[in-house]
Amino acid sequence: GLVNTRDMFAKAVKGGYAIPAYNFNNMEQLQAIIQACVATKSPVILQVSKGARDYANINLLRNMARGAGEYAKELGCEIPIVLHLDHGDSFETCKECIDNGFSSVMIDGSHFPYEENVALTKKVVEYAHAHDVTVEGELGVLAGIEDEVSSAVSHYTKPEEVVDFVSRTGVDSLAISIGTSHGANKFVPSQCTRNVDGVLIPPPLRFDILEDIEKQLPGFPIVLHGSSSVPVEYVNMILQFGGKLKDSVGIPEEQLRKAAKSAVCKINIDSDGRLAMTAVIRKVLAEKPGEFDPRKYLGPAREELKKMYMHKNINVLGSANQA
Ligand code: G3H
Ligand code: 13P
Ligand code: ZN
Repeated sequence: GLVNTRDMFAKAVKGGYAIPAYNFNNMEQLQAIIQACVATKSPVILQVSKGARDYANINLLRNMARGAGEYAKELGCEIPIVLHLDHGDSFETCKECIDNGFSSVMIDGSHFPYEENVALTKKVVEYAHAHDVTVEGELGVLAGIEDEVSSAVSHYTKPEEVVDFVSRTGVDSLAISIGTSHGANKFVPSQCTRNVDGVLIPPPLRFDILEDIEKQLPGFPIVLHGSSSVPVEYVNMILQFGGKLKDSVGIPEEQLRKAAKSAVCKINIDSDGRLAMTAVIRKVLAEKPGEFDPRKYLGPAREELKKMYMHKNINVLGSANQA
């Protein structure tokens, strides 16, 4: 069955690794995630966003996630699996997911004024804990690509707020903002430098803020959103086969590796999966224009996804062999 994040995070914090939190919207993505986590013996958090619910339906997603446990066993290894609501936007959304068998929810009140965030998060925690469901809260706002450098800076998590927030809300984990952001354009070019090949090199994450937060909350589970690396090989493949992506840039794996060794025990990755799938689908369709069986392009896309997730578990998050 599905588990909540409590034991998983306790082990990850102690062990100096991070649990992969991969978003899924369809069967092929779920298969790739489970196959990769079984092959690497990694625990996993399956994330469902509001967009995923709108696209695929909550009942189908829930039952797919429930089946994932048996699927893993069939593939040869039982692994701990969490079904998590990503970016819950209201008490009602969180409640609906809890009532529908999710084992973990995020309530993202980071856009609200501080006291509103506290009150909303506390309300979700009370309902969730009564159902043995764990809760992720968020402090600080991730930069959007439309943000200028200055406004991005002012939205970093304030270390002086974290103890008050965690103790008053009772959250089980805390998502923070230290320079990551969602999507495939995490920084504007003016925030970056370029290497000799013209590839954008982003500014480093604010590890000083992370260290401050760790000092305030020793051993408390910290979460990083927006942690795709936007691999240049997928970007180039998309461009090579007719796609258009401009100024894409992600978080270098070296920095995620460093974060995973710290109190960061959950790392959210969605965009890299989208890029991997799209790159392979473009390639297959370009090379075999007569192909019209979806399995013939979704199959290879799933294979590439699996490979990518295995690489993350083994070489970036350190979650391999921790199941
Ligand atoms: O946080 C964002 C995730 O990548 C989910 O994105 O809302 O488009 O499904 P989505
Ligand atoms: P990316 O867009 O960097 O993959 O982030 C995903 C995420 O944070 C989901 O909550
Ligand atoms: Zn996110």
